[in-house]
Amino acid sequence: MAIKVIDDKFFFLSNKRVSYVMEVREGHLLHVHFGKKITCEDVSGCFNFYPLSFSCPENSIESDWFNLESIKAECPTFGSGDFRQPMVKIKGNNGEKINRFIFKSWEIIAKPVYKAMPYVRGGETLVVSLFDEVQSLEIKQYYTLFDDCDALLRHNQIINHSNKSIELSRFFSFNMDFDGSDFHVVSLYGKPSCEAQISCNKLGRGVTNLESNCGISSHKQNPFVALSKTDYNEHAGEVYGVNLVYSGSFKLSIELCNLNTVRLSGGINDNDFSWKLMPGDSFLSPEAVIVYSPSGLNGMSAEFSKLYRQRLLPNRANQKVAPIVINSWEAAFFDFDENKLKSIIDSASGSGIDTFVLDDGWFGKRNRDNCSLGDWHCNTNKIKCGLKGIKDYCTQKGLKFGLWVEPEMISEDSDLFRAHPDYYVHCGGYKPSESRHQYILDLVRDDVFNYLKEIFYQLIKTCEVDYIKWDMNRYITENYSSALASNRQGEFNHRYTLRLYELIEYLTSAFPDVIFEGCCGGGGRVDAGMLYYFSQIWASDATCANERAKIMYGWSLCYPLCALSGHVSKSPNLQNNRAIDFNTRADIAMLGAFGYELDLNALTKEECDQIPKQCELLKKVYPILQNGNFYRLLSPFASDYFSVMAMDAKKERGYLWFYQRLVDYGKTPVRLKLKGLDENKTYHLDYFDIMLSGSTLMNVGLAVPVFYEDFKSLLCKIEEVNLQK
Ligand code: DGJ
Repeated sequence: MAIKVIDDKFFFLSNKRVSYVMEVREGHLLHVHFGKKITCEDVSGCFNFYPLSFSCPENSIESDWFNLESIKAECPTFGSGDFRQPMVKIKGNNGEKINRFIFKSWEIIAKPVYKAMPYVRGGETLVVSLFDEVQSLEIKQYYTLFDDCDALLRHNQIINHSNKSIELSRFFSFNMDFDGSDFHVVSLYGKPSCEAQISCNKLGRGVTNLESNCGISSHKQNPFVALSKTDYNEHAGEVYGVNLVYSGSFKLSIELCNLNTVRLSGGINDNDFSWKLMPGDSFLSPEAVIVYSPSGLNGMSAEFSKLYRQRLLPNRANQKVAPIVINSWEAAFFDFDENKLKSIIDSASGSGIDTFVLDDGWFGKRNRDNCSLGDWHCNTNKIKCGLKGIKDYCTQKGLKFGLWVEPEMISEDSDLFRAHPDYYVHCGGYKPSESRHQYILDLVRDDVFNYLKEIFYQLIKTCEVDYIKWDMNRYITENYSSALASNRQGEFNHRYTLRLYELIEYLTSAFPDVIFEGCCGGGGRVDAGMLYYFSQIWASDATCANERAKIMYGWSLCYPLCALSGHVSKSPNLQNNRAIDFNTRADIAMLGAFGYELDLNALTKEECDQIPKQCELLKKVYPILQNGNFYRLLSPFASDYFSVMAMDAKKERGYLWFYQRLVDYGKTPVRLKLKGLDENKTYHLDYFDIMLSGSTLMNVGLAVPVFYEDFKSLLCKIEEVNLQK
C-alpha cells in the first residue's frame, strides 16, 4: 500500500485499485475521494463548494467564501457552521459545546495494537492529528488500506491535553461525505430466528439511523450498511459498505442533506453514552471498515470476506476445517441424563462427526431455562460421571468435547444470586426487567469480572474441553453499575463491552487450542468484534433449511460464511413444523461451519448412511468457503430460489448451491450465470454430469431444471476437466 503526502496538504492512500484522498484546506481536513484509483496529480482542482447565503464564512482562515456546511468533512463537529450530523460532540469544562479541530501534523506508523478492543490486524497506517487549541484537545484519525483488499480502516482517538476534564457525548469512528443524493441503503435487520434479513430502500431526506440500543449489536439491526448508487445490483454498480468492528450498542447515521450530499457516519451509539475524559486521558473509538466496490454487492462482500478471513478472524480459523459437531440442544434440550448423552456420543462415533457439544442444561439444577445460570458446576444427578467423565467417554469414542456456557448471565434462582444478590445489572429501586428468567452480570464491577475469569478458567481447564459455545440470551436493561460514579453512568454500555472483550481475550489466550463459538440467542451478536476472538458464530436458531438459506444469504453480505455455523436438525422442523429432506438440510448447513443437532438414533438407516458421505463432502466444500471466492447468484429475498457458489482462487474447483422453495408449474428452468470461472477452462458439473466451458457457464448460463418438489436443493461440484484425470 502506498501512502503519499504532498506538501503537508494532500493525503493519498492507494493500492492498485482504489484511492482514499484527503486534503487540508483552510485548516480543515476534508474528504476528496474514495473510489477507483487516481493518480496523485489529479486532485488539486477537485474541491468544490456551494455558495451559501446562510453559511459561516468567518470559519475561513484564508478566504471569505469557504463554508463548513458544503464541504466533505473528515471530522465534522458541532457549532461552527456545519449543521449536518457531527462525528464528535464534546462538553467542555466550562459548558462549551463547540469544537474546532484544525490540522496539526501527520505521521505514518505500523498499525497500533490495542489490547482493549478488537481491531483488524496489521497494516501501515496514516495518522492525522487535529487540534482544538481553545480546549487543548487532540483528535488522531487513523487510516489503513491494504495492498490486497479494497477496505479502508478508520478509527479515532481523542486526547485531553488540558488540565480540565471534558465529557464526550458522541465519539464516532468515522465520517464520510458523498456527492449526490441518489443512493440506496442496504442493511441487515431481524429478530431471533429471523436474523440478517436484507432491507433495501431508496435513501430519503433527513437522517436515517440504523442502530442498536440493546447493549449488544443485536438481532434487530446489524452494524453493517451499504450505500449504493441507484443503478447497482449483485454484480455491478458502485457500492460503499461499512461494518463496525464492535459488539455493543452502535449507530450508523445516514443524512441526505439539503445540498444533495450524503453524510455517513457511525460508531458507538450516543443515545446512552457519555465518557468523562480527565486531563491526560485518551479515548479510542472502535474501528470502522469501509469497503469500496465498483462491482456491486458481491464485490463488496468479497472485500469484507477477504479482509476478515486474512486479518480479523483468530489465526486458527484459517488453519483447519471447523469441527463437525453433534450438538445436544435440539437433540435433547434439557431432557437428558448421562445415558442419553452417551447414546448420542455412541451414535456419532465413527460417522465422520468429530466433536460432541453438550449444550444448555448440564449445570446447577437446570431442567428448564428458569434457573442456575451462574452455578457452573455439573449437575451430577443428571450426569453421574461428571463433565470429565463425558470428556473421557468422548475421547474413548474418538470425539472431542465441547461445552455450552453463558458466562454473562445470572438466574435469580441460583446459588450465585443467593450469595451475591448485587452482582447483576440493576438500577436503584426500579424492578429489574427479567428476560428468559435471567439477568446480566455487571461485568464493570471488578469482583464480578474477576470471579468470571477464575470460574471459566477452571472450568475449561479441569474438564479439558476442546470447544466452548459462548451463548448470551438477552439484551441489557437497567443499564447502570454500582462501580461507576453517578456522573459516569453514561460509560456503562461501552465499559460492559470492553470488559466482555477483556474476559474473552483472557480465556481465548489462556486456551489457544480451544475452539470458541459465539452465540446470542441465535445470531444476536454476529459482528466483526466477536469474529476477532471467536472463529465461528452460531448464525441463528432457525434450523429449518428454508429459513436458514435466507439468513445465510443475508449474512454473506458482510461476513465470511466459513465463520458462521449451521446444523442439520430434525424434520419436521421443531420451530415451524416444515418437513425438508435430509440432504437438502445438509446442503444448506454446509454453507458454513457444519454439524448436526438432532437425535441421530431417530434417523432412518438411509439417513444414517448419508452422514459419513456428508462429512466427507464438507471437508471438500469448507476449505473453498474458507479460502476461495464466494458469489451470490439468486436471492431468496427476491424469488423462490436461492443460489450461491464458491470457487477456489485458482478457478479449478468449486461448489454451486441451488435451492427451490416452492414448485411453480408456470416457471421455466432457471438460467444461472456462474461467476468466478476461467473463461478458457472446461468444467465438469457432477450433479448434471455435463462439461461446459467457463465462458459458456458465465455468459450463456447453466439451465437448472426446476424441481417438482418443494424445499429441495442441489449441491453441485464444479471441477476443471483436466484435473479430473
Ligand atoms: C440459544 C442458542 O441459540 C441455542 O442454540 C441454545 O444454545 C440455547 N440458547 C440454549 O439455551
